[in-house]
Amino acid sequence: MVVLPILNFEAKIVETVEQNPVVVIIGETGSGKSTQLSQILHRKGYTRSGIIAVTQPRRVAAVSVARRVAHELGVRLGEEVGYAIRFEDRTSEKTRIKYLTDGCLLRESLSNPELKQYSVIILDEAHERSLNTDILLGLMKRLVKMRSSNFKVLITSATLDSGKVSSFFSNCPILTVPGKLFPVEILYSSERPTSYLESSLKAALDIHTREPKGDVLIFMTGQDDIDKMVSKLEEKVQKLEEGSCMDAVILPLHGSLPPEMQVRVFSKAPPNCRRFIVATNIAETSLTVDGVVYVIDSGYVKQRQYNPSTGMYSLDVVQISRVQADQRAGRAGRTCPGKCYRLYPSSVYHDEFLDVTIPEIQRSSLTGSVLYLKSLDLPDIDILKFDFLDPPSRESLEDALKQLYLIDAIDDYGLITHVGQTMAELPLDPSLSRTLIEANELGCLSQALTVTAMLSAETTLLPSRRGIEKKRKFSDSNFPDGSGLGDHIQLLQIYEKWDQTNYDTKWCTDNNLQVRGMMFTKDVRKQLCQIMQKIAKGSLDVESNRKSKEGGQDYKKLRKALCIGYGNQLAERLIHHNGYRTLGHKSQLVQVHPSSVLETDEDGRLPNYVVYHELIATSRAFMRNVCAVEMSWVMPILKKLEKTDINKLSGGSGASEEQRDNEGVEVDFLKNDGGVIKVPDDHDSKIQAARDRFLARKSKK
Ligand code: CDP
Ligand code: MG
Repeated sequence: MVVLPILNFEAKIVETVEQNPVVVIIGETGSGKSTQLSQILHRKGYTRSGIIAVTQPRRVAAVSVARRVAHELGVRLGEEVGYAIRFEDRTSEKTRIKYLTDGCLLRESLSNPELKQYSVIILDEAHERSLNTDILLGLMKRLVKMRSSNFKVLITSATLDSGKVSSFFSNCPILTVPGKLFPVEILYSSERPTSYLESSLKAALDIHTREPKGDVLIFMTGQDDIDKMVSKLEEKVQKLEEGSCMDAVILPLHGSLPPEMQVRVFSKAPPNCRRFIVATNIAETSLTVDGVVYVIDSGYVKQRQYNPSTGMYSLDVVQISRVQADQRAGRAGRTCPGKCYRLYPSSVYHDEFLDVTIPEIQRSSLTGSVLYLKSLDLPDIDILKFDFLDPPSRESLEDALKQLYLIDAIDDYGLITHVGQTMAELPLDPSLSRTLIEANELGCLSQALTVTAMLSAETTLLPSRRGIEKKRKFSDSNFPDGSGLGDHIQLLQIYEKWDQTNYDTKWCTDNNLQVRGMMFTKDVRKQLCQIMQKIAKGSLDVESNRKSKEGGQDYKKLRKALCIGYGNQLAERLIHHNGYRTLGHKSQLVQVHPSSVLETDEDGRLPNYVVYHELIATSRAFMRNVCAVEMSWVMPILKKLEKTDINKLSGGSGASEEQRDNEGVEVDFLKNDGGVIKVPDDHDSKIQAARDRFLARKSKK
């Protein structure tokens, strides 16, 4: 094995760590930070006084690096070296080196604020600037002061504004591990391609037919494109004349790949065979694949962005930053001189790309993070003044406070409630946590656990996104349809049907559901059940999911629990129209996603109120995963919405300033039947309108 660059610095690293509570380590990707640092400190004896934790922003990286380190140390994974990711804990009493996602470490700190079991915490891949790592940075700063004597923090990164991090930690030392990177020739395209997929394909074939041996790493933006690319490339390669070039193996690499497929990229290519690794930006820095000599960089990445004023998510393909482009190119020069094919002109690189990627904290919903910080309930933590490396916008902090208020996690004064405290302990989005708590009260916990588990596994349930649409719309009449009440109910029914077959795997394949995903759901359900049992005092009747004794055909209790849980994600149907407008944010015009099983009534109308799991902006704004709810459950939430005072929530003076969300936005209304629908935009008239309709309906009865 070649000696990894970081090992040449072992003595220096040990010395610096001995003398300082916090050390920043900068090293080229592939220099051995993730796999070696923990082992270096283990050798030095740091595992005698506690466990060494290494955080990873990505689940795949946590698993794959732990597996590698276990292998290097010659131990069984889960014993001396283990990992923990959400819903999967592979550690034991014996574990001394633990890889875990940054989210997992945050949750551990709830029951154990000083993280006493750890002697060292390594925040790895800090350059990714994941939301959770950013919060951990702030937390570590406090912890280092509290546990000064026997606690070390290392922050590692491939590229990072090391000065900024160092000054954040009172000018802690920065160690730079020079990577021996071979020169990489950069080849630019003369213009932006019309189809980056076709251009990547062409570049890949050109390399294969013309260039000497060496693996090719191709960056794609998502799983769908990766699948397309893999099959197109396979087809093209097969058509090449026999003996005209070497053999080829084409391997996909992305986060939702089954583990046995992920492992394949780390095994060596057979002789006289070129490997093509078609990857998401997971291969940019999180995972190092050896043998790469050629890189094809489209210049794009898929990024999830959240708009705090509308509550809308969009999954946009955006241009990468210059730092990312350099990282991608660097992957070609690890073992010998390489080449990077940039499918864009150099002017784009210089003039259009941002210097650095925008940290996730500035483009995510902060609801979960703010709940977490509130639940720490530490007198010295004021959310709006929390020590962030890069603070999020005030608007997104306020948005989070408002969302939490609507689902009862914080009270009128922004203080965490008992419900909120319980919510924080669940490894779920705040809305789903809230749903479980409400379901427990209403006596439909078993059903709610099933729905929550199904949603947590949704991405692995179905072969692909397109599969969802197909399945939900065109499958046979025996397949659960949610009784027309919506997608959550359908997910419940699917699971219950499977349960009735005694978890038959054939039933899954017959119904186009991934066995792996369904098994995962079952496991997640069991884990959530155990957590609920621990949290909720009194006895729970959660195991009895076999008999749907929790409400009849209308699933009323469950839908009510969902309504309370998604109290911040509520939409009202527009009069004479099947479009909706959202109520918890600035009013947005939205549609039910075409894949939904929600049905209209005999008059062809969709329900007056729905809650939704997610708002996504694609060509239009859609609600994904919706559930029909009833007026009487909605009213208390509307009342709350009316009296939301963001000033009070954020601990301000309470002087009632004009509420932010009353600032009307002009919504471009859908034109339908030639008519234009006008929606009142201020809260008073919203509430009044809702009340009027309620009263009108009541008097009809
Ligand atoms: O973290 P950093 O990018 O500095 O490097 P690393 O992940 O520690 O990788 C060091 C070496 O271990 C590389 O040569 C990887 O190819 C190898 N490795 C591996 O073979 N299998 C893994 N699951 C992880 C790393
Ligand atoms: Mg690494």
